[in-house]
Parts: sequence; C-alpha cells; structure tokens
Amino acid sequence: MIGKIDHVGIAVRSIDEAKRLYEAMGLHVEAIEEVPHEGVRVALIPCGESRIELLEPTSDDSPIARFLEKRGPGIHHLCLGSDDVRADDARLRAAGYQVLRPEPTRGAGGCWVQFVHPKSAGGVLLELSEGDPHHPGGGRGELT
Ligand code: CO
Repeated sequence: MIGKIDHVGIAVRSIDEAKRLYEAMGLHVEAIEEVPHEGVRVALIPCGESRIELLEPTSDDSPIARFLEKRGPGIHHLCLGSDDVRADDARLRAAGYQVLRPEPTRGAGGCWVQFVHPKSAGGVLLELSEGDPHHPGGGRGELT
C-alpha cells in the first residue's frame, strides 16, 4: 500500500552545484551514495517527511546521462513510499500497467524499488519504494 510521497528525483549534471540552492534554503544533504549498477550518484536532502533526491550520472550510458542529454536537468521521477512493493507491483501488473523491471530491485539506501513506465503513468516516471533510507539495507530482506 502507498503511504506518502517519499521523494522527488531531480537529474543534475553536478550534485556539488545543484545542492547549493537547497542549502541556501536551509536544507542539508544527509547522504551521498553511489549506485554503481545504475551509473548514478545520489544525494538525499530531507524535506519534512519527504526528500529531494539529486541524481548525477557517473557514466555516459547511464539512464540519467541519457535523460540529461535528451531533456537537460530537471524533474526525473516521483517516488511513492510503499509498505509492500512486491504487492503493489503485482497489483499494477494485473491492472495492465507497464513496469520497468521484471521484479523489484535494490535502489539507493538499500530500499526495494520498482518503476512504472511514463507511458503508463501520464508522462511521469513513477518509482515505488519500500524501506527506511535511514537504515541502509532496510526493507524486507526476504525479497531476495
Ligand atoms: Co528515486
């Protein structure tokens, strides 16, 4: 079940440059993490009960690099927090929505994530995420 907006993902060319705006508003980068299999560096900026996620490519052929090439910096995805990504994934598939991965995979912070294709979601890349980013490796280990 979906509980809240977990974070908004923003594609940036440089985390170091992009974070300055948020720091000028009194927000702080909580963690910077590299997700090698996604070719991306991720900065998490807590904002109330949600977060802003800055995404910087670490390789030229990563999805974020391709996004920047095509559309420039900007909002990349919206993430909804789920208490059971596997169940939400199954429900969406059964309803005919197109998801990006054969099954939920590990994302930043050790969360379990799935994505709904923008073609299937009104032009928005939707991420579903399960797990507490404050406890890396959290979420339901039995999914492996
Ligand atoms: Co995300």
